[in-house]
Amino acid sequence: MQTELFRKFTLFSELDDKELGAIAALAKPRKYAKDEAVFHADEAGDVFCLIQSGAVKVTMISPEGKEIILSMLGPGDFFGEMALLDDHPRSATVVATEPLEVLTIFRNDFLQILAENFSIARKILAELSKRLRAASYRIESLATMDVYGRLARFFLDLARDQGKELENGYVAVVRPTHQSIANMIGTSRETVSRLIHDLMEKNLLMSEGKTIYLRKSAIDQFKEAV
Ligand code: CMP
Repeated sequence: MQTELFRKFTLFSELDDKELGAIAALAKPRKYAKDEAVFHADEAGDVFCLIQSGAVKVTMISPEGKEIILSMLGPGDFFGEMALLDDHPRSATVVATEPLEVLTIFRNDFLQILAENFSIARKILAELSKRLRAASYRIESLATMDVYGRLARFFLDLARDQGKELENGYVAVVRPTHQSIANMIGTSRETVSRLIHDLMEKNLLMSEGKTIYLRKSAIDQFKEAV
């Protein structure tokens, strides 16, 4: 594999060319189509994956077939480290939400890389800490907020992470489907559609194509609800 492909991963930002070359020699590319599963929860795991392009959702499926989205990951992110670190099956199902290209590293090579490079091990621990914080935040939302509060928090987080402030006072955010919002906040698609419809009726937000425009007053109102 070309060393240059690895340069853009912050995981490897402290490595020199020689160290990076050694890792590049171990990695194998894999491609997945949109909606294809990279792996399923409870399978045995043998590879670590770095997302080169595309995106995935990390999900759990309840026995009744209900999907809970734990996280969305994109270029530069990694997944599949947990089963390699704790020797247990995959903790979640990972599905491509767009055409996906990953670089994979086998278990023994991955563990060897961690043993030899503290900077990489530290970055993986930092990312695991970040994911644990995000999971704690989700547990708090689910345990203490009603569905309107969870939707308000969802929009606030979206506006903070990727919102574009427009001159007319609106904040534009990319709209995930109502079904995926529902699967992220633990409710039904019908409830999300009804709540978004109510917010539109109250003129707090507008939906156009794949963009939602949040009014400044909606953001203030959401802040009061969370
Ligand atoms: P692994 O358990 O090997 O396979 C599923 C992967 O999904 C897991 O490693 C992590 O990389 C990722 N994953 C599991 N739970 C979460 C979560 N709560 N947030 C983000 N990523 C997760």
